[in-house]
Amino acid sequence: MVRLALFASGSGSNAENIARYFHNREDVAVSLIVSNKADAYVHNRASCLGIPSHTLSREAFVEGKEALDLLRRYRIDFVVLAGFLLKVPQSLLDAYPRRMVNIHPALLPRYGGKGMYGDRVHRAVVEAGEKESGITIHYINEHYDEGDIIFQARCPLLPGDTPEDLAAKVHALEYAYYPEVIDSILKKSKEENQPFDK
Ligand code: GRF
Repeated sequence: MVRLALFASGSGSNAENIARYFHNREDVAVSLIVSNKADAYVHNRASCLGIPSHTLSREAFVEGKEALDLLRRYRIDFVVLAGFLLKVPQSLLDAYPRRMVNIHPALLPRYGGKGMYGDRVHRAVVEAGEKESGITIHYINEHYDEGDIIFQARCPLLPGDTPEDLAAKVHALEYAYYPEVIDSILKKSKEENQPFDK
């Protein structure tokens, strides 16, 4: 059984979507939800879903040990960031090499990096007059939004589309693809005889 932890800073609609996708699976479980905000709505979602959720302060997260202890306590094999705004400390990267993924709400390498998150991304894309945007799922490394890209999907940006319109299109892509891409990473590692839960 591969045990997943989901990290989210805010609403957590992606986290909920991923948890629902893997619900009742015998080979994968969402075992933990982590947020850096005690009042993030993702905690409400976690409690409705019956998944334990924890808050780690920014300081505790940056320091690294507490986060690592938490992941070890829940025997986490693989970490999924979904709307998580803090930079992942080196100690976690070392403990989970190629075992941490993130989703970015644009087509990296454009519209990424520090400060490029949430609605800021969609505003920048609309203001630049782009004809399309999309999602990027990538491994995490020590730089914001720079890890190896695993998957991208695109959506058109029509004349008159607002940042809110774009956010809705991007969210639809996220819901459609993020759980499936995670699932295929887990399946592939099993096929290659390098399962995450060994
Ligand atoms: C998503 O668009 C995600 O790509 C971005 O932040 C948003 C989080 O939304 N990084 P939610 O909390 O999953 O609803």
